[in-house]
Parts: sequence; C-alpha cells; structure tokens
Amino acid sequence: MPDSVSSFTLVDVPGAVPLLGHLQAFKTRPLESLSTWWRQHGDALRFRLGRKTYYLFSHPDLVEDTLVKQSDRFVKVYDPRRPHGLALVLGNGLVTSSGEVWKRHRRIIQPIFHRSRMAAMADRMAQVGEQRVATWETHAGRTIDIAAEMMQLALEVISQTMFTTSMTQHIDRISHSLRVSIKYAFDSFSNPLFLPLWVPTARNREFRTVMQFMDGLMYGLLAERRQSGATHDDLLDLLLQARDEETGEGLSDQELRDEALTIFAAGHETTANALAWTWYLLATHPDAKARFHEEVDRVLQGRTPNTDDLQHLPYTRAVFDESLRLYPPVPAVVRKAATITTVGGVSLPAGAFVLVGTYNLHRHPAFWTNPEQFLPERWLDSERPAARYAYLPFGAGPRACVGIHFASVEGPLLLALIGRRYDLQLAQERVEPQLMVTLRPKAGIRMLLQPRHVPVVSLS
Ligand code: HEM
Repeated sequence: MPDSVSSFTLVDVPGAVPLLGHLQAFKTRPLESLSTWWRQHGDALRFRLGRKTYYLFSHPDLVEDTLVKQSDRFVKVYDPRRPHGLALVLGNGLVTSSGEVWKRHRRIIQPIFHRSRMAAMADRMAQVGEQRVATWETHAGRTIDIAAEMMQLALEVISQTMFTTSMTQHIDRISHSLRVSIKYAFDSFSNPLFLPLWVPTARNREFRTVMQFMDGLMYGLLAERRQSGATHDDLLDLLLQARDEETGEGLSDQELRDEALTIFAAGHETTANALAWTWYLLATHPDAKARFHEEVDRVLQGRTPNTDDLQHLPYTRAVFDESLRLYPPVPAVVRKAATITTVGGVSLPAGAFVLVGTYNLHRHPAFWTNPEQFLPERWLDSERPAARYAYLPFGAGPRACVGIHFASVEGPLLLALIGRRYDLQLAQERVEPQLMVTLRPKAGIRMLLQPRHVPVVSLS
C-alpha cells in the first residue's frame, strides 16, 4: 500500500455519450479538453475514449505515486507484439519499450548523456547553431517560420552530436516524414475508430511511405558506419559496440534501428518545440526580451557561447525553464496499471490508462503564484515550485528523460547564440498550441528576423 499523504475523490467527467464516451471533444481539441476538464472538475478525473477508460491526474502527490513510488506498477502502454501509437514509428526503442529490454538498453545509452560529455557536446551544438544561423542572413528583415527553423536546427544538432553526420540535405523530407508519422501515431492511439494499418487507405499508404524513408535513412546510417569502420565515440558507436553481459550478443538490426530512430525523433522534436515557444514568449513579453538581450550581450561580448557561459546566463536559463512550464513539450505522460492498485485513495483496475497532466500541473494555482503569467524571475528568486512534482517537463522516476542534461544545455545555449544576433518579433496574430504527442504551435510561428547591431566575433 503506497504511503500517500493526500486522499483524492475521483470525479467522472460529465458528458460521456454511449460507446464513444468523450471521444468527440478529445479528438477535436485534446489539450483544451484535458485542461478544461481539470479546471472544472479537479485533480483526479476519469473519462472514456471509446472502450478505453483514462484517469487524468493533475496533482503532485498523484504524480509521485504513479511515476516514482509505484513506478513498477505503472508500465508503458506499448506491446511489441501488437504495436500501436508511437510504437508504430519508434518500434521497441527506449521511449516505448518496457521490462528487461528497456533496462538493458537504458544502461547502454545512458553513458552518452553523462554530464562529463556535455562540454564537448555543447561545442558541437554551438558549431551547428552558428552554421545554421549563418544561413539566415539572406532572410534578415523578413519573416520566417521559427517553429520550422527550430525543428531543422535541433535535427541537425542531434544528427551531429549523436550520429556524427549531417542531415541537411534530407531535412525537408525528414521533417515531413516525422510530422506525418507522429500525427498518425497520435490519432491511432487516441482514436478507437482509427482503421488498422493493413487497410489500404490513402492515409495508411502515406504512413508506410514515410516510414520506408525513415527506415532507409536509419539503416543507411548503420551500414555506412559499419562499412567505414571509423569510430566517433558517439551514440552510434555505443549502440554498435554494445554486447549482452551474459550471451555476448550485440543488438539486432531491428533494435539498432529502433534506438537510433528513437533518439533521433525524441532528441529534436521536444527541444525544437521548447525553443519555438520560448521565442514566442519572449516576443510577447518585451521587458523579458530586453533583459534577456542585455544578459546575453554582457556575458558573451559578441562570442559564441559555450557550457561555461551557461552559469553566467541565469536569466536565459530561467526564460527556458519558464517556457517549459507554460508550454511543456510533453504535456501529458501516459502509463498503464499493470495490476489492481490504489493511488491517493483512488482505486485503479489492472489495465487502467493513466494520464499525468503535466500541462495542468504546471499551471496549478495551488502550487504557482500567477500561474498563467510568463515570469522567468520566479526561477531566480526563492519562489521555486513548492512541491517537487509540480514541475516535470522531463518526467519523473526511472523513465524520466534520458536527455535532460543535453536539453538543459542545448536550450539556453541556442537561445543565447541566436539572441545575440537577432531580435525575433512576432509577425502573426494568433498562435495556437496543438497537442500531438508533443505540444506544437498549430500553424507554426511567423517571426520577423531583425538583426541586432551588437559586436559579433565569429567562430574560428
Ligand atoms: C526540452 C527537451 C525535452 C523534453 C521536454 C523532454 C521530455 C521528456 C519526457 C517528459 C520524457 C518522459 C516520458 C514518459 O515518462 O513517458 C522523456 C523521455 C525520453 N527522452 Fe526526452 N525530452 C527532451 C529532450 C530530449 C533529448 C535531447 C533526448 C535525446 C537526445 C531525449 C530522449 C528521450 C528518451 C530516449 C526518453 C525515454 C527515456 C526512457 O524511458 O528511459 N529527450 N523526455
């Protein structure tokens, strides 16, 4: 029995219709549904999507019980024998696998993200950032879609740091393929009326085509590295060299493909969205933007940033943390109860789906002062979140993000690198968040690229 402090009353979200439950509302506006239901009905809710019953938890105590204290009772929702949702794209990689496979692969992959490697990674990130930003010169004074730009930048960062290769020539096709496949994964997961992959619909055909392209890319990377025999001390080397402690066997080609694609996708999509939302928040809060520019100019003095600079850029880091609070790239974490269990006094049957409402927690008035306001200062002052699990942009417990240090360096570093050269101004009226596994700006974010007139020392 868990030692929960609080006891919660479970509320059924009203408005369920026979057979479909709350599907119509959720399908049309998933983020708004989760947030409105929570605001209207409370921290422990139950709703239905077709035959599947979901529990929505939006309180730190419920999070701690689910993701940390009882993490062995709450498993990932994917079954490698019957892949659905994200597993259709990522296979049985680190995000989607469970049990012994997950444990073994996490042990293999974790060392690449060790803190001691971050300085070298940061130099590579900065190099990629400078190269990419140099291509913006022709757009200076014009508008660009900053969300698409951040996607391409983060994609190149992950390709260069993890796979020591460039993806610039495939960037448009990769972005398209990931967009199509992730939307497919999200819809297939949340919509019980979704037609299975074997039905020859136009959408299923499109999904197969983009997956063939992504598979080709991943298998191509692996073959190239094997053939060249070169070593780069990167993730690809680590995966190819991994041997089972007992059998001495390496990872199969399928396992290698799944892990490579997982890091490739999970490692850029989240950071790119976080950066896009940060530029949006800065553009809509001129005082914060001025303070950010002042700090970047004072600390960098026109240089390219490195890891050491980050400790002198507290406001820039606070801006990033605050952006992750208001627009968490992973707005909800999903688990399945492996057995009958109780969380905060709420009984859950085996097989129950739990959604940890990160987006809701980050705006919970019981744990944040002025929760809806963008206030980077809250991360500088003593007013950090009162409850440990009220802030979980990187998840919590054993399945927390393996890339947390990487992203915590990459985010502020790229903000500083871009902020010293450009003032990004919002050039569209409405920006709407859309939940599609991650939290994206629905139709991108058009911004005016205004060059800043500060001394610039370019990278040698
Ligand atoms: C701002 C950036 C990022 C955010 C907000 C983020 C968020 C998250 C969250 C919330 C989880 C936990 C999901 C769950 O519990 O179901 C997660 C897991 C994961 N993330 Fe990240 N992530 C970010 C960046 C990265 C980067 C840069 C990488 C890799 C280079 C990465 C790779 C992964 C992987 C492989 C997992 C699965 C870990 C496991 O289950 O063992 N993420 N991430």
